[in-house]
Amino acid sequence: MRDPGRKAFFHPSMMNSQLARAMCNLAGVRPGSIVLDPFCGGGGILCEIAALGARAIGIDLNWRLINGARTNLSAMFHSDFSLIQADASSSPVGKQRLDCIVTDPPYGRISSTRGAKAVDLVRTFLERVPDMIRIGGRLCICGSSDMNVGEMILELGFAVTNRLEVRVHSGLTREVSAVQF
Ligand SMILES: C[S@@+](CC[C@H](N)C(=O)[O-])C[C@H]1O[C@@H](n2cnc3c(N)ncnc32)[C@H](O)[C@@H]1O
Repeated sequence: MRDPGRKAFFHPSMMNSQLARAMCNLAGVRPGSIVLDPFCGGGGILCEIAALGARAIGIDLNWRLINGARTNLSAMFHSDFSLIQADASSSPVGKQRLDCIVTDPPYGRISSTRGAKAVDLVRTFLERVPDMIRIGGRLCICGSSDMNVGEMILELGFAVTNRLEVRVHSGLTREVSAVQF
């Protein structure tokens, strides 16, 4: 049930549950936390947020994937969630004080960005994070090596608490960075 292939809705861009749970742990997700995934897709990360007893907020451009995330979250025993179809780089949760952000922005060819450059989307979103997250709140973001999210985070002057590389297969290594605000 937790693995993408066993969920009620499946899409190849969905994150696997083990990496999603590790990222939630690095972001300090706790029962009752308010947690955003601004590129939520079919909800791989959102399902782990909900499984930890936190409130999951998901944003995605793609209406079909938002509906898929709803199907997956609704299939869980208990889940508290909100889903918004929107562009995360001008996201409508700007005034909310989030406890955590856990996300896996678009990379490669599986996720459509409707013509935007993924790297620009991510940078624009990251610039807005300090206005959305509470003091002491944490972000955990997973990038691909060509996007170099770690470098972007350093350029923005954020305080990195953890960085790790996860080899998915010979052609794909995911880079995970956690940041405290
Ligand atoms: C790698 S997938 C996300 C996987 C997902 N976080 C999970 O846990 O399964 C990236 C997602 O970003 C979405 N996306 C692309 N451009 C976007 C934008 N400007 N705003 C919000 N979502 C966007 C795509 O539709 C896709 O679902």
